[in-house]
Amino acid sequence: MSTSDREIKNLLVTGGCGFIGSNFIRFLLESSGFKGKVVNVDKLTYAGNPLNLRDIEEKFPGRYIFERADICDLERLDEIFSKYEIDSVCHLAAESHVDRSIKKPAEFIYTNIVGTFNLLEVSRSRPSFVLFHHVSTDEVYGSLGPEGLFKETTPYHPNSPYSASKASSDHLVRAYNETYGLPVTVSNCSNNYGPYQFPEKLVPLMILNGVEGKPLPVYGDGKNVRDWLFVEDHCDAIWTIMRKGAAGETYNIGGNSEIENINVVYTICDILDSILKPVPGTRELIKFVKDRPGHDRRYAIDFSKLHKELGWNPRESFATGIEKTVKWYLENTGWTKSVKSGDYLKWIDEHYGN
Ligand code: NAD
Ligand code: DAU
Repeated sequence: MSTSDREIKNLLVTGGCGFIGSNFIRFLLESSGFKGKVVNVDKLTYAGNPLNLRDIEEKFPGRYIFERADICDLERLDEIFSKYEIDSVCHLAAESHVDRSIKKPAEFIYTNIVGTFNLLEVSRSRPSFVLFHHVSTDEVYGSLGPEGLFKETTPYHPNSPYSASKASSDHLVRAYNETYGLPVTVSNCSNNYGPYQFPEKLVPLMILNGVEGKPLPVYGDGKNVRDWLFVEDHCDAIWTIMRKGAAGETYNIGGNSEIENINVVYTICDILDSILKPVPGTRELIKFVKDRPGHDRRYAIDFSKLHKELGWNPRESFATGIEKTVKWYLENTGWTKSVKSGDYLKWIDEHYGN
């Protein structure tokens, strides 16, 4: 079941300066056909980089607005909703890195759970609210054995503080639909890769370390499996669900690209070798290191609901997407330098204070 296209005019995107958020705003304004306004609310943590959207800010004055704010600040959210007459939310803001959640979980609880709760509270107080879309993860389902796929009906079994905080936020969103009738949709997506990803995550870390001849740390035996999705395909899926998904429903999103980590790393090494021709080859840099605690073995997504009901399919294969991605990091040296050196944080302090 799907509704006809929703009328969204003033869309609040949270976490729009992060990896997926900045790609989503770019997609919305440049290629989705969306005609309304986008208000980007982002706290600018280490993972938020306003430089990701500098060109968009210049190209779409009046239609792209940035507000530096913390989603844990209820009053501030209320002001922003009123100021811009927000009618819909695409909620991406989160602490997103599993390793950080293992070392320092508190921020994950505040932002991912309390922050989501605040947004739901403000959304339900608006008289003609159109849609709250919650961007979530396949990690809420836990770990698979060698067979099977996560379906929307798979029971939740989160294994890290990160995935437990996301699971908690998913439950809150669903509960606000059941209890208050708030129109919501939820998407649970697999691992994304592509431009503007912070180099703490596997793909950009391997690319940038590979370029610099630094070790490529592979956790455990390297045989953990993830289902990889090019970020632009994720953005397209989110927008498809926001326009046409039935209120109260959850949709899984995946890339049909189940790959062992070690093979992801080999692929990146081989692309780097074909372009940079280093001696010795980049695979020589691979170093097997201590495993992540509670490391989920395998994720794999059944996205047939999204395909059958809303007609979505990923466009990019892993082979084509990863080639584009490696080239992007090689070509955008201004971005990579500023992120690696932390210069973007100085820029933020100069422009917004710390
Ligand atoms: P990211 O870490 O790159 O970006 C997160 C953004 O949220 C940053 O801009 C950060 O400044 C902002 N933020 C953090 N705390 C905030 C707060 N308290 N108030 C306002 N803004 C805050 O994350 P990402 O990889 O782009 O992920 C975005 C969303 O997608 C997350 O909800 C994540 O759980 C989900 N997701 C990610 C993936 C993936 O592979 N990256 C896959 C599935 C789902
Ligand atoms: O599945 C969706 C999730 O994908 C999102 O919800 C998370 O926000 C996102 O961070 C990502 O989580 P992962 O933990 O899967 O991503 P990460 O890039 O950290 O790791 C991918 C795999 O690679 C994982 O099995 C751990 C492994 N790994 C990671 C790093 C950073 C390594 O072997 N070495 C590394 O240095």
